Amino acid sequence: MESATPVIVAIDGPAGTGKSSTSKAVAAQLGLSYLDTGAQYRAITWWMVNNGIDVDDPSAVAAAAGKPEIVSGTDPEGPTITVDGVDVAGPIRTQEVSSKVSAVSAVPEVRARITELQRSIAASAAQGIVVEGRDIGTTVLPDADLKIFLTASAEARAARRSGELQGADVQSTREALIKRDAADSSRKTSPLAKADDAVEVDTTELTLAQVIECVVTLVEEKRAGK
Ligand code: DC
Repeated sequence: MESATPVIVAIDGPAGTGKSSTSKAVAAQLGLSYLDTGAQYRAITWWMVNNGIDVDDPSAVAAAAGKPEIVSGTDPEGPTITVDGVDVAGPIRTQEVSSKVSAVSAVPEVRARITELQRSIAASAAQGIVVEGRDIGTTVLPDADLKIFLTASAEARAARRSGELQGADVQSTREALIKRDAADSSRKTSPLAKADDAVEVDTTELTLAQVIECVVTLVEEKRAGK
């Protein structure tokens, strides 16, 4: 289905709820652009690590926040992410970046920079866009047409994530996820949170196909003015 008028969809939730797979598939099915905001926070974290910035020193991170140029490609069939022209799609998924991204993304100067980038990408998406993250419905795009908050039990999230990480054991993945969610939910600047007007979808007992169908239906209902 081609999009008639631009529609902005915000999909938030913790790690392992199926946000990325769902957001990409919904965008592809509805002819919309797609933005993975976690990839942008991972990209700036990757740059900090590569440039010897101490990520546990918020003032050093703040001072460097404006330096790297981060560019996101928004085709849901092949999203891309570059830092200063370098393709970082692979390197941003390492354990090292995953363990440092919460500290970097808690720094207000980093959030201000990345939020501005996200708003300009959303504003220039002619057909509309699905934007996934942690604070999209609450902070980045509070006027989004539809806000979804995906949840799942910690066990289900850890099982899915360890499957993706090939061979990673469920117990240590679960601990790492819980630690990252706690940091993302408790930070001062735009923490992981459900917007008051978001539709909550618990994906624990649902297949990916069911979650995609549910979100596509919600977007279509919104467009039909229901
Ligand atoms: O979606 P992800 O797991 O790739 O996100 C990586 C980290 O980026 C996540 O732990 C918190 C941060 N993040 C954020 O602070 N705000 C967003 N909108 C998206 C991600």
